Amino acid sequence: MRNELVIVLDFGGQYNQLVARRVRECNVYCEIYSYNMDIEKIKELNPKGIILTGGPNSCYETDSPTYSRELFELGIPVLGLCYGAQLMMHVLGGKVERAKVREYGKTEVSISKADSEIFTGVNTPTVCWMSHFDYISQVAPGFEVTAFTADCPVAAAENKDNSLYAVQFHPEVLHTVEGTKMINNFVKDICGCAGDWKMDAFVEETIQSIRKKVGKGKVLCALSGGVDSSVAAVLLSKAVGAQLTCVFVDHGLLRKNEGDEVEAVFGSDGLYDLNFIRVNAQDRFYQKLAGIAEPEEKRKIIGEEFIRVFEEEARKIGTVDFLVQGTIYPDVVESGLGGESAVIKSHHNVGGLPDYVDFKEIIEPLRDLFKDEVRKAGLELGIPEKLVFRQPFPGPGLGIRIIGEVTEEKVRIVQDADAIYREEMDAAGMGKSIGQYFAALTNMRSVGVMGDERTYDYAVALRAVSTVDFMTAESAEVPWEVLHRVTSRIVNEVNHVNRVMYDLTGKPPGTIEFE
Ligand code: XMP
Repeated sequence: MRNELVIVLDFGGQYNQLVARRVRECNVYCEIYSYNMDIEKIKELNPKGIILTGGPNSCYETDSPTYSRELFELGIPVLGLCYGAQLMMHVLGGKVERAKVREYGKTEVSISKADSEIFTGVNTPTVCWMSHFDYISQVAPGFEVTAFTADCPVAAAENKDNSLYAVQFHPEVLHTVEGTKMINNFVKDICGCAGDWKMDAFVEETIQSIRKKVGKGKVLCALSGGVDSSVAAVLLSKAVGAQLTCVFVDHGLLRKNEGDEVEAVFGSDGLYDLNFIRVNAQDRFYQKLAGIAEPEEKRKIIGEEFIRVFEEEARKIGTVDFLVQGTIYPDVVESGLGGESAVIKSHHNVGGLPDYVDFKEIIEPLRDLFKDEVRKAGLELGIPEKLVFRQPFPGPGLGIRIIGEVTEEKVRIVQDADAIYREEMDAAGMGKSIGQYFAALTNMRSVGVMGDERTYDYAVALRAVSTVDFMTAESAEVPWEVLHRVTSRIVNEVNHVNRVMYDLTGKPPGTIEFE
């Protein structure tokens, strides 16, 4: 499966994961490594191609990230992007200097070498995404300039004989209109990859290798009903059947009917061969949360209690051989194990590893996949679409969508309001097109009137955001009539709600969740 590998050496650019994704979109398997990676390790991996990412530094400064000349002499094709392009020139004897103006944004690039393999099928001029201060003022010996812009004499250069390619722009960014074509040209035509990394093969090979690894062993999996843990569980179930036990903790902070939906898929009457244990721990969580209003404290309590419940169940099962984790590739990269631009979203990993559970080894079957690939694997495995395309739902669940103290009644209110909101969004055909949307319960009560009676009830807040990466977001435009319908249904159907508000705040300055 891995005989065709392209590696991305990360020099700290913000688009490192995008580069790998684009390569995988060409059906070529790709991994990200830090630029610190030893040359011997690269030789061992024996990739078909190497891509150097952008980065925030200036390559001519002494302490900037660099790589030895040897990298370009391995006989493996190399493609340098932005900083990677400048570094290639710098290391091989060209010249990189600070430009008078920063070239930034969509830029027309003219191709001056019509038969350049990287530009096969690409128009000239073509719009590319530029973001650089430094520029290549002189290419290294053996290179020829293949493209330029109004401000940049070397927008691309190549040394065809040695299969070295440099582009000043970012083909991985979608603003580079023909970027995917260029990456495809590099990995297929220049590196000679066949492009046979496909999800069906991944699924089949993963099942085989799990089977081999697990043997007759016992496997334990914490199932949340989210995409990652569901796909991981199904892979394991296909591989080892009832040697797998899934523990699903219902903390009473799930969306309406969600616990039953998870049970319907994974339980004894469900679709898969596995042992399913549902722990109805609602009361335990509500008790622990009583009187607690501070968001981080709530997160901590929910995370810890989750671990305790899981631990108790695991003890009942006794020693297990393997513990399954739904880790996916961005988690690996972001925790600094893969690339260079490490950001850890600590609050997103509430609870951490249950280190008290007696197990011998961890299995992370999705460790190499991006989220969209996990979804593809899910579809390949026949997991219901509704589950595969589920919106992100935070580990602490409705606990962080109820501002202030969490009570059973408030949970019921927000569940009902949210269910109405989702129903109407689906009916309006908007269900799939918006990144994330939900109802939250504000801690505000206000005066209203219903059937001639004064009310003093809660305000529900509706949120809907468009986002690519959930790091930034904008409030989505939901048609007035949909919001109107949702509002009137919520105030009519959900007890103790007399106002509904729509949150127009972006992130930043807001966050997506309310706490
Ligand atoms: P924020 O609220 O930080 O959310 O803008 C960004 C994305 O992360 C999810 N999120 C969480 N997920 N545990 C999780 O597993 C958490 O504590 C948590 N907080 C936020 C949120 O739903 C959104 O998709």
